[in-house]
Amino acid sequence: MDDVPAVGTSTVKRGFWSSRMAFILAATGSAVGLGNIWKFPYITGENGGGAFVLVYLLCIAIIGIPIMMAEVLIGRRGGHSPINSMRTLARNAKLTPRWVWLAGMGVFASFVILSFYSVIGGWATSYVLTAASGQLSGQSADAIGAMFSGLLGDPVRLLIWHSLFMGLTMLVVARGLRGGLERSVTILMPALFILLLIMVGYASTTGHFGEAARFLFQPDFSRLTTQGVLIALGHAFFTLSLGIGVMMAYGSYLQQDISIARTSVTVSVLDTVVALLAGMAIFPIVFANGLEPGSGPGLIFQTLPLAFAQMPWGSVFGTVFFVLLVFAAWTSAISLLEPIVEWLEELDGMNRVTSTLLAGGLCWLLGIASILSLNAWSGFTPLAMFPLFEGKTIFDLLDYLTANVLLPLGGLTVAVFAGWFLKRAMLEEELALPQPWFGLWYSVLRYISPVAVAIVFVYNLV
Ligand code: PFF
Repeated sequence: MDDVPAVGTSTVKRGFWSSRMAFILAATGSAVGLGNIWKFPYITGENGGGAFVLVYLLCIAIIGIPIMMAEVLIGRRGGHSPINSMRTLARNAKLTPRWVWLAGMGVFASFVILSFYSVIGGWATSYVLTAASGQLSGQSADAIGAMFSGLLGDPVRLLIWHSLFMGLTMLVVARGLRGGLERSVTILMPALFILLLIMVGYASTTGHFGEAARFLFQPDFSRLTTQGVLIALGHAFFTLSLGIGVMMAYGSYLQQDISIARTSVTVSVLDTVVALLAGMAIFPIVFANGLEPGSGPGLIFQTLPLAFAQMPWGSVFGTVFFVLLVFAAWTSAISLLEPIVEWLEELDGMNRVTSTLLAGGLCWLLGIASILSLNAWSGFTPLAMFPLFEGKTIFDLLDYLTANVLLPLGGLTVAVFAGWFLKRAMLEEELALPQPWFGLWYSVLRYISPVAVAIVFVYNLV
């Protein structure tokens, strides 16, 4: 068995895994994470359900998948880290080297995302202990709500868990352990999937399964706002790890004879299925217990523990579930830190350990601002003078800036770069798709994806 390639190493090691498998594992490890299980259900709850889910699914299909294919293609053709792949392709197409800024923006966005991602990863890590120690058994919804509020109100505990999560992420990146970790995706991802199915099974016994299914899949457009459309679009990028260069980095290891289209579709479908399963596990519990679907980022931490409190073997299932959630978050966090570390290595010739300490340390520091937003600074809304940002804490703003601005902007730029500036013949050669499929992808990438992103942006600004 051989290593799954680490981002930035330009050799492709091959062995037991086919590269298609290696790519799918690495890309799915990055895509499936807190975005699917923590973020998707709560933003769906906040944005009214069905219509939001429909827009999100459309965004995945007509914007996410074509852009993922473009990112992977750029990575494979460029054959280097995102910055150098962009540089090579821009040079070959006789374009301005300024296109490299796109990859620079990706590094910045990774940095900001990781800072708060690690705080939420810390929440999940703390719930491993909560579930394992049997504290959830037999608790009421109120008691579980109080437990969660207790965690958010305690900056010291949040800091400890954030530090642990970030420390684990840095450890893997500093030691270049990715290969082993990604191999475990083959066991842990299916395990997560099965556990989610068990949770959906449990949720179906609450008597509110039909209500949850209607909430998620019956669109009520009167509940959809223009903000909601932007959030759905931003989440499509966030959940597929797009607009930031991660898929470019992974694409650089993909062998020439492997279909970019098939692999991109596979990763996107897996990611979407996990999110929908999480929704089907959570909303029946929300409705059965009279909880508020729009209660925000704490949604899964107030609903799933309630299921674990009531079901037989709840402590065991709860512990395993949170371990798997932490693992899924961890593989995503690593994919965020890795490109920053590489960029520092390339930029300054710094060694890997120093780069990891510097990048991870700064992310950790910025994470403290998100921690304080949950308690001491919860009333601090620095951009409240703009109606769009009213009531948003630092944590909310960092999330908004990255998911709803930087990632879609990054994706838009990728679509324009590949669709309008790279040679069609080169794209055809890389994708090797039958003509009608290539034509479809090319038109969507040139016209539909960028225009859709631009329209959503404009509507939200005016
Ligand atoms: N896709 C990850 C998730 O859904 O949790 C988050 C993420 C990872 C976003 C890597 C962006 C990224 F580059």
